[in-house]
This record gives sequence, C-alpha cells and structure tokens, in this order.
Amino acid sequence: MPIRRAADIRSSEITSKENYLNRREFIQNGAIAGGSLLAAAPAFGALVPTERREKLVDVGTSDFSTSEAINAYEDITTYNNYYEFGTQKDDPYRNAEDFEPHPWTIEVTGHAEKTGTFHLEDFVKPYALEERIYRMRCVEAWSMVIPWVGIPLADVIKHFQPTSNAKFVRFETLEDRRRMPGQRSRVLRWPYREGLTIAEATNPLTILAVGLYGEVLPNQNGAPIRLVVPWKYGFKGIKGIVKMSFVEKQPKTSWELAAPSEYGFFANVNPEVDHPRWSQARERRIGAGLFTPKQPTLMFNGYGEHVAHLYAGLDLRRNF
Ligand code: MTE
Repeated sequence: MPIRRAADIRSSEITSKENYLNRREFIQNGAIAGGSLLAAAPAFGALVPTERREKLVDVGTSDFSTSEAINAYEDITTYNNYYEFGTQKDDPYRNAEDFEPHPWTIEVTGHAEKTGTFHLEDFVKPYALEERIYRMRCVEAWSMVIPWVGIPLADVIKHFQPTSNAKFVRFETLEDRRRMPGQRSRVLRWPYREGLTIAEATNPLTILAVGLYGEVLPNQNGAPIRLVVPWKYGFKGIKGIVKMSFVEKQPKTSWELAAPSEYGFFANVNPEVDHPRWSQARERRIGAGLFTPKQPTLMFNGYGEHVAHLYAGLDLRRNF
C-alpha cells in the first residue's frame, strides 16, 4: 500500500475500504519504514510521529464543506484542547505522542435494538469515509477550518436502531491514567463525557471523525475516533471515544460538571451573549497572524440554515 502525502493522491487512485481497514495490520506488522515516510512528508516534520502518518483511502467529498481557506496541518495539530494530555494548548501535541490508539473498542449501550462492544474497524466498516471541511469554533473564541475525514453519525445511529426511549446520545472518552497523564489531575471529572440530543446527533452535519488532511486522526486531535459538531463550540467534539449510550435523560457533560455557571448542555455559539468571562462576539482565526483583526462570530458558527430549527423554543440567551 503506497503511503504518500495527501496532496499527492488523486481521487482516481483510491483503493478499497478493505485496504483502509487492513491498514492496521499492515502497520502493526511494521511494514512502514518510518524513514521513508518522513522523506515523503518533510513539511509536516515531527508534529505527528512518522509511524502514525497514514493516508486514508477511498475518501469521498462532501457538499457540506466550506470553501474557506483551510488551516495548516501545523495549526490543527499543535493548538488543541485535550485535558487528558494537559491543559495548555500545546500539551496534547507534546504529551500524546506515545499514546497508542490501537487496538480500540467502542461500547454501545442503552435504548437501542443493537448494542455491544465493537472493534473500531468493525464499528466504522459499514460506512463510506467522507472529507468534510468544517469551520470549527472553540468556546474560548478561537476558530479553525479543518478538513476532517469521517462518517455521518446519523448513519451510525440508524445502524444501532435506537428505540423511542432514546432521547439523547451520551459519549465517553477512554479513562486510563497510565496512558493519559492529564487524568492524574482533577481538573475535570473523568472520564470526559459529552452528549447530544438525538436530533443533534442525527443532523447531517454531525460526523464521527477518524482522520484529517486525508490521513488518520493524530492523537492530539482525538485518535482514533472523535465527534465533530461544527455549529457548536469545540467542547461538543469529544475525543478518543470508547462509549456511546442511548439514554432517556439529558446527560451531564464534562464542562457542565466542571463549571455549571459557565457551560450548559445546549450552549450555542451566540455572539450576542457574553460568556461569563469573555465576549463571544468576535473570534480569532488560528494561524491568521497577529495583525489580522478578529472576525465577527456567526450565529450557530454560520451553520444556522441547517440547525437553527433544532433550538426553536429554546431561550438562547440563557443557553448561550
Ligand atoms: N475531548 C476530550 N476527551 N477531552 C477534552 O479536554 N476538549 C474539548 C474538545 N474535546 C476535550 C475534548 C474542547 S474544549 C475543544 S475546544 C475541542 O476538543 C478542541 O478540539 P481540537 O483539538 O480538535 O481543535
């Protein structure tokens, strides 16, 4: 299997999904020579260890993608929130390097016809991979444009057939203090958890991402699988998912548990309502340069036409 830079691969050259799924075995057998991969990708340097730099194959494109300028790989992989690896923006990049995200299982529980524990490869197998270039915004008023590769969460949910009792989907990140040194601190209650309403989870914009820039997801961005909800603040984008539960009651999210006066379950990107500690009216595009002025924040991060209806009747001044 050839491993080349994302830009070097034409869509006409794509290979089968089986190849993507067999990739792991290939890597585990040590078939990739780190040196040759490094030689193929000098621009990315050591931002992600060379043995983890793997091209995803058979990736389709999506009509949902924005045409805005994409952030550099370096921006996307060195400026992250992932408290399991530390609370500074560059901690995940520095501390997640040795994290081994394989083998990986995902447990599906709760009100659904199908439940169980699945190997990541089996969990992802039924779906086509798609590249979606999404504008992402963090509660701390920074944003990026990221070429994710993922699968629509709606398709995954359909596969598990939730019953009418399933009103929310709850997600959990791996809890393993040995592999995730940030969990030795009590900065958050572990495991990290998030939740979506069924309507949010099945909105066509919501994906489970397994890659970015045409390659497997780097550890600092949530390898091997994470949620991407582009109209929400970053914190809905839970990383390193090991559990997905169909539940009746609204689940508590990590940030609600940590700071209930600052974050709510329905927090939306509302430029008109300040966060208790800062304005949300403007945002800084990461990588734009120090002298580039901040830009106005868009309601629902600019995805209002697709999602505003999900919040009809909700007081968006309270659920800021
Ligand atoms: N997921 C886990 N497991 N742990 C975290 O600390 N931080 C969240 C979210 N997902 C977080 C997480 C926050 S606050 C943000 S802004 C986004 O990840 C950042 O995602 P990115 O690193 O892909 O930009």
